[in-house]
Amino acid sequence: MTRDIAHDIVIMGSGIAGLRAALEAAKIGKGKLDIAVVSKVQLMRSHSVCAEGGTAAVLRSEEGDSFDLHSWDTVRGSDFLADQDVVSHFVQELPKEIIQLDHWGIPWSRRSDGRIAQRPFGGHSFNRATLAQDKTGFFEMQTLYDTLQKYADVTRYDECYATNIFTENGTFQGITVWDLNTGEFFFIRAKALVIAAGGACRMFGFTTYSLTATGDGMAMAYRAGLPLKDMEFVQFHPTGLVPTGILVTEGARGEGGYLINRDGDRFMSKYAESKMETAPRDIVSRAEMTEIEEGRGLTSAEGLGFVQLDLRHLGANRINERLPLVREVGIKFAFVDPIYEPLPVRPAAHYFMGGIHVDINAATPVEGIWAAGESACVSFHGANRLGSNSTAECLVVGRIAGEQAARHALSQKAIPEMPAERVRQEEYAVFEQFQQRSGSEDISSILSEMRSMMDAKVGVFRTGQQLEEALGKIRELRERVNYVKAAESTRVYNTSILSILETINLLDVAEAIVAGGLARTEWRGSHARRDFPKRDDENWLKHTLAYYSPEGPRLKYTPVNITMWKPVERKY
Ligand code: FUM
Repeated sequence: MTRDIAHDIVIMGSGIAGLRAALEAAKIGKGKLDIAVVSKVQLMRSHSVCAEGGTAAVLRSEEGDSFDLHSWDTVRGSDFLADQDVVSHFVQELPKEIIQLDHWGIPWSRRSDGRIAQRPFGGHSFNRATLAQDKTGFFEMQTLYDTLQKYADVTRYDECYATNIFTENGTFQGITVWDLNTGEFFFIRAKALVIAAGGACRMFGFTTYSLTATGDGMAMAYRAGLPLKDMEFVQFHPTGLVPTGILVTEGARGEGGYLINRDGDRFMSKYAESKMETAPRDIVSRAEMTEIEEGRGLTSAEGLGFVQLDLRHLGANRINERLPLVREVGIKFAFVDPIYEPLPVRPAAHYFMGGIHVDINAATPVEGIWAAGESACVSFHGANRLGSNSTAECLVVGRIAGEQAARHALSQKAIPEMPAERVRQEEYAVFEQFQQRSGSEDISSILSEMRSMMDAKVGVFRTGQQLEEALGKIRELRERVNYVKAAESTRVYNTSILSILETINLLDVAEAIVAGGLARTEWRGSHARRDFPKRDDENWLKHTLAYYSPEGPRLKYTPVNITMWKPVERKY
């Protein structure tokens, strides 16, 4: 019999959004709420620790920054697909989060006058990326984790993998969880769920993301009937370190780094004359790919085209003080010390602007379920996110989701019962099913074919034909997963089964991305359709909603909230 565990709130994911949600729920609950945080990794290994460059917030109105300016930068950066009511509300909430973290003890980098430092970031017209060296995500995580220790009402389920979300009559019931360490399978029922399980960039081969970012929360929500919004908008970060894809923070360009081609030219002058290297990411990534495709890049030993990030003119002191991690990863993973030589970089899959459809209160269409962080799409980033707006959004939306979930849980009398028969079927589907198959296929081949295909066909530039081919390949790979047999029979850390489940999640999410991209016959933000080279506001100023069906995504559309600025041409 599957163990049945009850909590008031369950939070799926322990990155910045998940921990911020847990803290807020504990604060609102004042000891009356029992909160679970379920994470597939040990808590401090969440991918949020990899966030480097900064968290955007208006802290200097007396020096010329303003909420309107941050809103305008975000809306223009989004290629006018962001919901402007959301943007306007969130930019006003962001500074509170910076101060809250300060009070919780984060070691923000400081100016010489002792005030919190901020650096330039792409697409922002004021220096508003608040930083803790180039390890901002790590320090934010550590601060949230430390603060969480004060709350006895939070139970951690580390290295526990959620496999399914259960709802009944449009209301949340609970989740099934596989404890990787003990092999135990159990059901956590709760009054409220916050999904904060991160992104899915591991469907690409060249990515800044941790191996664990496999879209589990998005895929589970999608299969449970929740729509995924604007999935076709995938962000490519301009400076993935060649050959691994490890992030070289945009903070490096914010500090004054140059991008140069094989001739040593600062090519950004041709693509974004005024903003140069700190233009928004979609523009810089396209510029790099154009240089590479037109023969002005270099080629690595692995055959990857690249350009170079030159930091030499910043000098050793500035690099060591503001960019120590960039230097360390350059030396360790590219054998290049940026004090003396330029770093090899190219665009790397970095972030999904899309995610589980939520409203301005982080609420999904299902009662009792909220979503936050990269798993969610609250429409703050539209078609292209500005750097440093993501950790910012994780903090604000995490807080809102935690608060809303707590208020809901306090208002509910009973925790739903476990649907025992459905949970038994899920346990079979997770374990026995994969062990009993005949098994002519190998999951690692399927995974690596998906990654190469996504790199080749769903990249910085796309065409309808490439997306058609991608869709065909995704469906072929999904069918082939049915012929994979688990390589091990244990339930304890069975990485074979884990990999099968993660791959299914990645393929389901990839199908929503490609179907949305194929339907969207325009060029907007990160969705650069070479066969439709113009933005088309008349037909496409709308959000895509993808609903799961076994035959493939069903697409619907919903309007963009334009409250302040009508779309205009984007120039930098
Ligand atoms: O470049 C970076 O440090 C990444 C920041 C972000 O994605 O917001």
